[in-house]
This record gives sequence, structure tokens and C-alpha cells, in this order.
Amino acid sequence: MADTYIGAIDQGTTGTRFMVFDHEGQVVANAYEQHEQIYPEPGWVEHDPIEIWENTQEVVTRGLRDGGLDATQLEALGITNQRETTVVWDAETGKPVHNAIVWQDRRTTDRVEQLEEEDKVEWIRGKTGLEADAYFAATKTEWILDNAEPLKLQSSRGESVRNRAEQGELRMGTIDTWLIYNLTGEHITDVTNASRTMLYDIEGLNWDPELLDEFGVPESMLPEVRPSSDEATYGSTDPDGFLGAEVPVAGALGDQQAALFGQTCFDAGDAKNTYGTGSFYLMNTGDEAVSSEHGLLTTIGFQLSGEPVQYALEGSIFITGAAIEWLEDVDLINNAAQTAELARSVDSTDGVYMVPAFTGLGAPHWDGRARGTLVGMTRGTRKEHIVRATLESIAYQTRDIAEAMEADSGVETTSLRVDGGAVKNNFLCQLQSDIIQTEIARPEVDETTALGSAYAAGLAVGYWDSVDELRDNWQVDREFSPEMDTSEADRMYSRWDDAVERSLDWARE
Ligand code: G3P
Repeated sequence: MADTYIGAIDQGTTGTRFMVFDHEGQVVANAYEQHEQIYPEPGWVEHDPIEIWENTQEVVTRGLRDGGLDATQLEALGITNQRETTVVWDAETGKPVHNAIVWQDRRTTDRVEQLEEEDKVEWIRGKTGLEADAYFAATKTEWILDNAEPLKLQSSRGESVRNRAEQGELRMGTIDTWLIYNLTGEHITDVTNASRTMLYDIEGLNWDPELLDEFGVPESMLPEVRPSSDEATYGSTDPDGFLGAEVPVAGALGDQQAALFGQTCFDAGDAKNTYGTGSFYLMNTGDEAVSSEHGLLTTIGFQLSGEPVQYALEGSIFITGAAIEWLEDVDLINNAAQTAELARSVDSTDGVYMVPAFTGLGAPHWDGRARGTLVGMTRGTRKEHIVRATLESIAYQTRDIAEAMEADSGVETTSLRVDGGAVKNNFLCQLQSDIIQTEIARPEVDETTALGSAYAAGLAVGYWDSVDELRDNWQVDREFSPEMDTSEADRMYSRWDDAVERSLDWARE
């Protein structure tokens, strides 16, 4: 009999990846495809859900073919996804009524400010663990229902999108739900993704009727919420569909929670930071939902079949890897790999600080009107200094979170597991270790996001027996220890706050 594997679809902000893992958690197939970023207005970001679904089918097909595998060798599929990005579609035709509104999109900042004026911030935090922000799916869904103007034409009776939603004709979902719906025909999400909508009560574990009322979201639009690893499975692929086989879809987690799971951070106190478009630092807090006093989010970490929900504290940094992409966009570098060499060619930034608040600032500042800032430049400033300042901004933003995390949890950060594209950069890993004065551990398999969702799906179907088996799969690739004096790290970090201060509230008219 041919060997069997677990497949993982990792649908991220910039592209879609399909990976296949074996029993040891090693990658046996891998395919990737980028999709278009649509910027209809400054501060708005959209994706085409149809393109995402087409790319998903393409990478799964290509990954299996290039890996010399057959779909029947997949025991299960796991899904992991860019979180909060919102799709609304027609229940009958499966056609979206609008482009997906991406997590980075700031179009609903006014609505969030209205919530602040109405003193609803604490009320929202109490139910959802979230800081009221345009980041989450609630205001994005509300916006689509109120504004999906041109698409009224899609309605057979010419009715408004909101009316159609109220009559139960539309479905809403984050990207996990959109993919599960297209793969299996079922309308399902997992607890981690539900916890990012700002509509879900993270302790009661239900869609909150008062929040649904606040944002005008009919409950009939919302998916059923299931564990992240579900023995009942979410459904199976259609044997007559693109895959040509009936494969159960048995696990789903938002990508940051998937990375926590893939890094085997199963116990309270375990923490990881993923360096992607943004960076997301999560600490497992066990079955206790710890509320933050320092600008962090309380969120659901994962839930295994038949077990209680595990919570996490999260520091969401909106822009880290995307700041490196920006350096490329403005032709300061040709590719990301060049940043280490350029940064190393100077001893310091010569006093330059870069705050990459291109889409506002997330944790711990939560300022939707903050904008990117470069300060401290002189005639002597060279591109090398700006490149170095950009890498340093990643390390400083992470230190902001590490300090908030310690203050909230009372647990001192002694070691941090890292993953994501940017951790291939040894210079960045060393800098990170220096700036937060802690050990940085980089695992062998750095695609921990896909791995985490494969683990969730594989546990559900018995491919792996228990999380203990998974712990043994985690192997360190390299550890970085602080080489900089604490006093020097503190000196560099002390001016970061001043730079951040200058970026705040910039986009207010
Ligand atoms: O919350 C947003 C996050 O899930 C996006 O992650 O890796 O697609 O940038 P990524």
C-alpha cells in the first residue's frame, strides 16, 4: 500500500500554499501561487475570493503532481488562513457579492471611532477579548451589507444586499470558511477564526446576539463553529470535483494560531512569533482567557475534539515583512535577501528610525490613523541606514509586544520560538535576540503555519495519536543568544517610542 500523508492549504495575505507532510512532520510536497492585491482607495485592501479559490485548486493539483503523489494518499486536509479577511456570498450560487475585505483594510475606521465615542470599547473587549478595531470582520461585514452597491445587480429581484442577508439568502465567512464551503459545500468555521470576527463570545462560545445586533449581521449568515481539530470532520471533498478523491477536511486554524500549534506551543507559557506580512506574537495561556491591561488581544489558541478551548494572548503587529517589501517597491533593494548584507555594511542607523505604520498601528498602540514615518535623517543618511532601520523596526515592535506580554502574564520571556519567511535572515534573528535580550529558537521546519493545520487535521483522523507525538517532531535549526549589552539594547529601544509618537494619528484630516 502507498504511504499516506496529510495535506495543508495555507491561504495567506500574499498567496496560497499547499504542503503535504509525512508522519515526522517533514514536507513531501509544496506549491505556491500569489494573488492580486487590490487597492481601490488609499487605506483599502481587497482580494478576489474567486481568484483565491482558483489558486487553491491550482496549488493543490500542482503540489500533488510535482510531489509524485495521488490525492487518495491524503488521509485528511487541514486549512489555515489569513485571519479576519471577510467574504460574503450568495447561498444559492456560491458567488461573492463583493471582493473580500482584507484584514489590513482601514475603511471602517470611522465606524470604530463611533464605537469609541459611544463608550462601547470595554463592552466589546469583555465579550470578544478584542480591541475595537477595523482589523476584525464585524465592521467589514457591516460595510459590505451597507455598501455592496454595484452588486445589487446580482440579486434576481434587484434587492439590496442587506435585505437579501436579512432574508437568509447570503453567507458570510472568513477565508477558512470560504475554502471549506468550496471544498465540501458546508458552512463551517473553527473557534480560532470565529474569535477574530468581533462577533463571537470567546467564553460563552457562541455568536453574541448583542454584537450581531450592533453590527446588523443576521445570524443566518454565520457559519457553524467547530473545534480546530474535529473528529466529526467538516465534510469531504467531492470525488467528482477538482481533486478527484473524497478527502476529509478535518482541521482549521487561523494562520497565527496554526503557527502556535505547529511550533508545538501546547502548554501555558509557550510562545511564538511569526514574521510574515506582519508579525503575530502569541502566548498560550491554557484554559484561562487572560485579559490584557497592555494593549494585547485575548483570543482562542486552539480546540481539539472533545477538549476545552485553549486561549492565547496575542500581540498583532500589522507591518513587518511588508516593510521589507516596501523597500523593494521603492527600489532601495532588489530582493529581501539583500537586506542583511546592506544592514551589516553600516555599524548603526546613524540615528534613523523607521516606523512602518503603513496601515495604522496594531498592538499595543491600536491607532488606525497612524502612518509610516522615517525620522532622524541627515545629508549623510544612505539607503543602508534606512534598510537597517527597517529591520530594527521589526525587532523594536516585537520588543513592544514582549514587554506587554510579560506585564500581562507575569511570565518572563526567556526563549521565543520564531517562524515565517523573514527568519531565514540570520541578521534579523540575531538583532531580535539582542533587542529583546532573550534566546531566539528557529525550528527546522519553518513552515509551521501549514504544519500546524496539518497536525490539527491529522490528529482528528488518527494519523497522529496525541500532541505528545507531535512534540517529538519539533527540532531546532539554530538558536540565537544575545550578543549585545543590555544597556546598548535599552539605549537603542528608548528612542523607538519617540519615533512611534511622531507617527500616531497622522492620517486625521
Ligand atoms: O491577522 C492577520 C494574519 O492572520 C495575516 O497573516 O501571514 O497572511 O500575513 P499573514
